[in-house]
Amino acid sequence: MALFKYPKRTHYCGLLRKGRVGSEVVLNGWVSRVRKFGRLVFMLVRDETGVVQVVVPAKSPAFSVAKEVGPEYVVAVRGVVRARPENQVNPEMPTGEVEVAAEEVVIINESKPLPIPIHDESLMATTSEQVRLRWRYLDLRREVMARNIRFRHAVVKALREFFDSKGFVEVETPYLARSTPEGARDFLVPSRLHPGKFYALTQSPQLFKQLLMIAGLGKYYQVARCFRDEDPRADRQPEFTQFDIEMSFVTREDVMGIVEEAMKYLFKKVMGKDLEIPFRRISWAEAVEKYGTDKPDLRFGAALRTATDELNPYIGADEGEVVRALTIQLPGEKPGKQLKLVKRMVKDFMEANKIGKYAYVACVGGGTASNLGGEAGKEIARILSLTKGEVAIIAAGPYLKVSEALGDLRNALGRALGLAKPGEYVFAWVIDFPLFELDEETGQPVPHHHPFTSPMPEDIPKLDENPLSVKAQAYDLVLNGYEVAGGSIRIHDRELQERILAMIGLSKEEMVERYGFLLEALEYGAPPHGGIAIGLDRLVAVLLNEESIREVIAFPKNKDMTDPLTGAPSKPPEEYLKDLPWLKVEHETT
Ligand code: AMO
Repeated sequence: MALFKYPKRTHYCGLLRKGRVGSEVVLNGWVSRVRKFGRLVFMLVRDETGVVQVVVPAKSPAFSVAKEVGPEYVVAVRGVVRARPENQVNPEMPTGEVEVAAEEVVIINESKPLPIPIHDESLMATTSEQVRLRWRYLDLRREVMARNIRFRHAVVKALREFFDSKGFVEVETPYLARSTPEGARDFLVPSRLHPGKFYALTQSPQLFKQLLMIAGLGKYYQVARCFRDEDPRADRQPEFTQFDIEMSFVTREDVMGIVEEAMKYLFKKVMGKDLEIPFRRISWAEAVEKYGTDKPDLRFGAALRTATDELNPYIGADEGEVVRALTIQLPGEKPGKQLKLVKRMVKDFMEANKIGKYAYVACVGGGTASNLGGEAGKEIARILSLTKGEVAIIAAGPYLKVSEALGDLRNALGRALGLAKPGEYVFAWVIDFPLFELDEETGQPVPHHHPFTSPMPEDIPKLDENPLSVKAQAYDLVLNGYEVAGGSIRIHDRELQERILAMIGLSKEEMVERYGFLLEALEYGAPPHGGIAIGLDRLVAVLLNEESIREVIAFPKNKDMTDPLTGAPSKPPEEYLKDLPWLKVEHETT
């Protein structure tokens, strides 16, 4: 039975140092580890600040209770801080010079044996994510997870501080709204009071922040939850958080400039690092040409090149297709070993990107290795001027598709081969995006960002005759191969906004039905405005060098969109469905 009255803490475990020797303290916390000997009990007692060793000798009145204590029990310990004998000082622990000699130990609550080995990181590394998420509140007791959650808080706090100091106002915008498309499916919430109707959970505050500019707010930010019904990935969750920003009377340089300053402030504050600004700016076309992707990892050099004519005899591109090559220097003494990893990753990435025509050529072990055979390998190595320890991956297909496959592979190989150093942070802006791209299925132009992004003013005349050549006033912030923020200057003119919506296939009626409220607002003195949204989960994960954003979210969804802890999604209780008879019919028939 848990105790509700217990001796209250006077000091925190993790903060005890030599200066406290001789003081009586009361600690409240958890028992991380307990070792029991005939005449002595040692406990590591933990709270949110860290751990300290507690010693209970047989002569202490606390001894009989201490013998009953188990791992993860919740305890109160009253005792005296003393210096550890010289030979027992533990330099690995911040509190390693002291221990607490207990005079009283109170068991506040017991714990069943834990289902996951939270104090053994090597065992945790083999524990499945499903199991970790099932027991997330225990998983979060691990030092590394507690650090991640606290670090995330520090990042948000620093961003708030920075934007507050610049006169921004934090405004909460609705989550239950009309659809605000950002290119994903909406999560829908049925309306009890309006049969047959749904709210959409906002995919981002995009339209509301634009309305706030029309309202005259000038500078807005929000730590906003966004909801998108898309398949989760390592860097994607169905609900995630943006540090969302919008400003009036700005150019894209103004928005990029303030974000650079914010990153500089953040790096100093939470990482203790001096960041150089401005960041490099790369056009979208250059990023795709050199690195195959609009989110290149610039911590290492390996670049792509096109060699269609020279390489075509070996790989057989069809009419209109290109052959592109990515060359990477295998690091270290034994490149042969790494080649195995490269071969596996090449296969995985090409298959995932549906590229059928690809090959590798490596200069290792005094010769060339290639899946195309020795002679072809040698020829390709010569054409690409490969040197010792270099591997080239070549692929044939449509330009963008091949570039993207090689670009994703490049980012992943950089990490896997250690070409990209953890602890190094290279930011870049990708700019001059196309306003539209072609939807592969429908052949219809679709916005590269979202339909509220303004074209480059000088490109507006090209909208009709050559829409795919029109560039957008959009910018993405890339860090170590991840897109950590994206934004644009918006359209603040109804006529142009309608033109763009028409170009992506909306009829007049559809425009008014979906975006009438925005179009109308654009006619009441809409100022020029623009903004950006920082993907907080991604930024924090990259800063912590975590491969998945799930490591920096307290309660994320698993890869299959479920929460193994609470069992979400679940069937709603019957009485809720009674209030939604129109939905219930659907529910029963599906
Ligand atoms: P965008 O859709 O590019 O822009 O999103 C901005 C940033 O949010 C992050 N992000 C995600 N993070 C985790 N899981 C997801 N599913 C996910 N989707 C996006 C990325 C991305 O750079 N309204 C615009 C912003 C604007 O124009 O101001 C928007 O939402 O880091």
